[in-house]
Amino acid sequence: MRDVVTNSPAETEAEGERLGGLLRQGDLLLLKGDLGAGKTTFVRGVARGAGSSAHVASPTFQLVRVYPGRLQLAHVDLYRVEAGGQLADLGLDELLDQGAVVVEWGDRLEAAEATLLSIEHLGGDRRRLRVERELGR
Ligand SMILES: Nc1ncnc2c1ncn2[C@@H]1O[C@H](COP(=O)(O)OP(=O)(O)OP(=O)(O)O)[C@@H](O)[C@H]1O
Ligand SMILES: [Mg+2]
Repeated sequence: MRDVVTNSPAETEAEGERLGGLLRQGDLLLLKGDLGAGKTTFVRGVARGAGSSAHVASPTFQLVRVYPGRLQLAHVDLYRVEAGGQLADLGLDELLDQGAVVVEWGDRLEAAEATLLSIEHLGGDRRRLRVERELGR
């Protein structure tokens, strides 16, 4: 998926699921997009693709949630995190040792070794998902 337009939450989830199926331990996926763009919806699919049956909700009041599965997926939301401070406490390296990590508002994280995916509101239920930067393997 380089660039795709979805027309429903289910379609966005399906794209997430496809990507989730490709993830491996150590992969870092950063999600960028405005409030309500569909980041959490996408993560719901990613978790399923990673083999988790966990309930995926917005972790806004919880910095990190961990979903066990074929591959452990850590779900991070940086919406309320100020640059610097809590970021250091995130334990990102350890989470990447244990599995893959997906980060909402991930553009706030300066990480070189990451895939960056943007979700753009196109009006109504249309969203554009675009891979802005791909982690080279
Ligand atoms: N094509 C679509 N893809 C994803 N979500 C869609 C789509 N069409 C409509 N929606 C709706 O948009 C909303 C997306 O909410 P979601 O919580 O996933 O966004 P978010 O980017 O995580 O928001 P936040 O910035 O608050 O974390 C949901 O209510 C969902 O039903
Ligand atoms: Mg969200």
